[in-house]
Amino acid sequence: MGKANRKSKTMADLADRHALYQESVQNSEFELDFIDEIFKEQRGRPALSMREDFCGTAISAVEWVERGKDRTAIAVDFDAEVLGWGEKHNMSRLTPEQRGRLEVLEADVLEVETAKVDVIQAYNFSYWFFQERATMLHYFRQVRKALVDDGILFLDIFGGSECYQTQKEKRKLDGFKYIWEQAEFNAVTNELKCHIHFHFPDKSKYKKAFSYTWRVWGARELREILIDAGFSETVIYRQKFDPKTDEALDEYIATDDAEDYACWLGYLIAKP
Ligand SMILES: C[S@@+](CC[C@H](N)C(=O)[O-])C[C@H]1O[C@@H](n2cnc3c(N)ncnc32)[C@H](O)[C@@H]1O
Repeated sequence: MGKANRKSKTMADLADRHALYQESVQNSEFELDFIDEIFKEQRGRPALSMREDFCGTAISAVEWVERGKDRTAIAVDFDAEVLGWGEKHNMSRLTPEQRGRLEVLEADVLEVETAKVDVIQAYNFSYWFFQERATMLHYFRQVRKALVDDGILFLDIFGGSECYQTQKEKRKLDGFKYIWEQAEFNAVTNELKCHIHFHFPDKSKYKKAFSYTWRVWGARELREILIDAGFSETVIYRQKFDPKTDEALDEYIATDDAEDYACWLGYLIAKP
């Protein structure tokens, strides 16, 4: 490679999209704290076994086994590339003993059969890839089968008028900007096409680092499908807002009460 060529590499050219994703989208420490706290509160015992569906780089499963010698995890994703990245950058930091408590499966979550676990988590709205009610029902049935009797399914969810429109949201992070784009919305089918872009201080851009096509599901319908799949109870934990500034807080409360919010984030849990 010539000197000119080396010089022409931008920050975007050198960026690692999975590392940027972990830094900007995921907060596995917070999410695992939430699972630990809610499981203990609801079941009166600690959760020990966890399956991470749509695991991507499996960072959450890795942190789970790091949280204690009595903990086991199963991580499931059907994309060999992202699992390979996770193996190299996340699983590699585990000791052989910790790695022995983590099973990584390259498989479709609609088909995979695993041992029963205390917790299944499916985060970052990945279950919204499933667009048909029948497919969502099948997924929830599969998950129900893979939970112990006093297990809990943890999903994340969002709602509010802003879900149903195109928009861009920017966040400044350490050394780059994260851009969430809702690029296209079909007001008949509720199909939403979204992208994640990363922008850098040298003005270079990593456009469409990740793209998703989701159906925007309503909380009520999801809860009905969970009940149809054999779950007995569901709870929504909705993000709290500062009553003075209306700013979203990192606190979640069990409630069905939601005003005319433009955008709310939350967790939907389901108990067998
Ligand atoms: C948005 S990432 C989610 C990563 C991580 N769970 C998180 O919370 O950020 C979605 C992942 O789901 C995986 N995926 C999509 N459909 C799947 C399916 N049917 N079975 C298994 N993995 C799937 C993709 O390969 C991708 O790695």
